[in-house]
Amino acid sequence: MSSYKQHFSICVHLFLFMLIFSSRAQDQPPLKTRGYLFRSVYTFGDSFVDPGNNNYIQAMSKSNFPPYGTDFVNQMSTGRFSNGRLFPDFLAYYLGTEKYQQPYLDPTLNLRESVTAVSFASATSGYDPITANLTKAIPMSEQLENFKQYKVKLQKKIGRKRAEDQIKKALFYVNAGSDDFALSYFGDGKGQTIRQKQYRLPDYEQFLLQLMAQFIQGLSDQGARKIAVTGLPPLGCIPVGITLLPTNLPNASPKRSCLDYVNSVSRDFNVLLQNQLKAMQSKLSKVGTKIGYIDFEQPLLDVIQNPKEYGFTQVNNGCCGSGLYEIGTLCNATSPVCADASEYVFWDAAHPTERTYFIIFTSNLGTINHIITG
Ligand SMILES: *[C@@H]1O[C@H](CO)[C@@H](O)[C@H](O)[C@H]1NC(C)=O
Ligand SMILES: *[C@@H]1O[C@H](CO)[C@@H](O)[C@H](O)[C@H]1NC(C)=O
Repeated sequence: MSSYKQHFSICVHLFLFMLIFSSRAQDQPPLKTRGYLFRSVYTFGDSFVDPGNNNYIQAMSKSNFPPYGTDFVNQMSTGRFSNGRLFPDFLAYYLGTEKYQQPYLDPTLNLRESVTAVSFASATSGYDPITANLTKAIPMSEQLENFKQYKVKLQKKIGRKRAEDQIKKALFYVNAGSDDFALSYFGDGKGQTIRQKQYRLPDYEQFLLQLMAQFIQGLSDQGARKIAVTGLPPLGCIPVGITLLPTNLPNASPKRSCLDYVNSVSRDFNVLLQNQLKAMQSKLSKVGTKIGYIDFEQPLLDVIQNPKEYGFTQVNNGCCGSGLYEIGTLCNATSPVCADASEYVFWDAAHPTERTYFIIFTSNLGTINHIITG
């Protein structure tokens, strides 16, 4: 990294740091755009990144109704599982001045040259095909197929060469795996799941890592050259998990603090994931593909463990409903909503608030800058 870039990056960090600590969610100012970076962003994964693809299919998991989106543009309930914008929405704005990402399945999707942010993600999808199948979400393999279709349409519209160039410059952002553990492997904790019958946990992790590697290879084969892969959040801190999982185990706490035995699963998986990404990086640098690891775990743990430093008061229950178990249709227009979502780390019982996403985003800016430069 040149000293100029380093200096610039430090300035951006300081600037963002000041933004976070001088403002609350409601008056959150837009990020300063680095105009010369104009790039597209393509997103794949689950409900942490789906801006509403599930609205257009028979998926079981939806959120295109109030109070979801209450802090979004025009208070729109887009299908995002939060009160406002998601990580890749900030990414889209930071890299390309798009205000937010669009779902690929939206029939009004505008195929545009050079700067665009399209998400292929689907809430409750995962690397394991069973995960999407259980809830009628779009499997990762189909998300990749949809990207191929998109690429063909883009080539028709702007020409092959320009479409390829746009894809080469774009940032590919992947966030999946949480639902593989939450839905497919652990389930509701009552009785063994199909996957538990088939795999011991370490074997299931290897199975997921292989599927992840195949997916990244698939993106690279389609021309992706800058790929950011997100690790798991601290799964033991997700409010609904704290509510439902057995607390009579060692380390479980009656105070609704994070479940250490579940957090150790996500922590261990994230270490394996980073090793796998390093192996993929050395394989794919031949074709010029750059891969980075986005940390969803440490920033979220930091916020949960030091809420006051970030201006949060609620760390273990969502803003919507009782905050203990409401997700999707259980968080609806009849549910009570907290007075100030910006004091909550979680919006519903599984998904961060916009303000939390913003903090996670800014703490990963160094990695993002590293992936897109050079
Ligand atoms: C998905 O589930 C259906 C039944 O609900 C089954 O017929 C199909 O084979 C499954 N597909 C995969 C890829 O597991
Ligand atoms: C709305 O949410 C409440 C809980 O907050 C739930 O009891 C009710 O069934 C939900 N309504 C629908 C239509 O799902």
